[in-house]
Amino acid sequence: MPKTQRLGVNIDHVATIRNARGSSYPDPLRAALMAQEAGADGITAHLREDRRHIRDGDIDALMAGIKVPLNFEMAATPEMQTIALRHIPHACCIVPEKREEVTTEGGLDVAGDLARLTDYVAPLVEAGIRVSMFIGHDPAQIEASAKIGAQVIELHTGHYCDLHHAGDFGARDAELEALRAGAAYADSLGLEVHAGHGLTYDTVTPIAAMKQIRELNIGHFLIAEAIFSGLGPAITHMRKLMDAARG
Ligand code: PXP
Repeated sequence: MPKTQRLGVNIDHVATIRNARGSSYPDPLRAALMAQEAGADGITAHLREDRRHIRDGDIDALMAGIKVPLNFEMAATPEMQTIALRHIPHACCIVPEKREEVTTEGGLDVAGDLARLTDYVAPLVEAGIRVSMFIGHDPAQIEASAKIGAQVIELHTGHYCDLHHAGDFGARDAELEALRAGAAYADSLGLEVHAGHGLTYDTVTPIAAMKQIRELNIGHFLIAEAIFSGLGPAITHMRKLMDAARG
């Protein structure tokens, strides 16, 4: 098991700020290049159906401009599959998407949509894209992700983070235990394990310490923290906490 854990930096909320004023700045590509310079191992961007933050032109610019791998987050729709197959990013992370949600609220129901997702994922994998399913720690969802041919799962850490910030430490620790078991189970099935959602300086350590987790994807907190410390220092500090957790 490799000791190092990759950090993917999600730059969606640079685009959120840009779009709030209909301006051309701040530029998500500039943020991605700064993140790359600060040691990010990958850039994550979510092209939502409603284009509320990242837009099609941002994906063009990121594909052309960054050297580290792009993790293209997307819903399992025909439109997004066409875009992914046009760009062939390093990875696609398939996420559930509801128009009315503020952010990705839960994991995918892979087990309940097995046949469609098997057909959906196949052309992406054939094109050489690493396909990741964003799911909770339920063993049935982990097994289903392996069954449909995805190479990677990304475990949703949002509930764990919410429990931590609510001060419900008993429930938080139970959720951590379930995430730990899920990561070990997925690894035993040959899936590469990633994790993300809601992670902060306060919550990253126990997740980063899980040896099977090869990559964390973090966005909102890093972009928020950049207001106070700058993006580079925020990424450097997160990286330091991840490395310390790995021992
Ligand atoms: N991973 C996935 C699959 C996500 O949907 C998101 C949010 O876009 C993240 C990671 C990053 O979450 P956050 O912005 O809360 O750090």
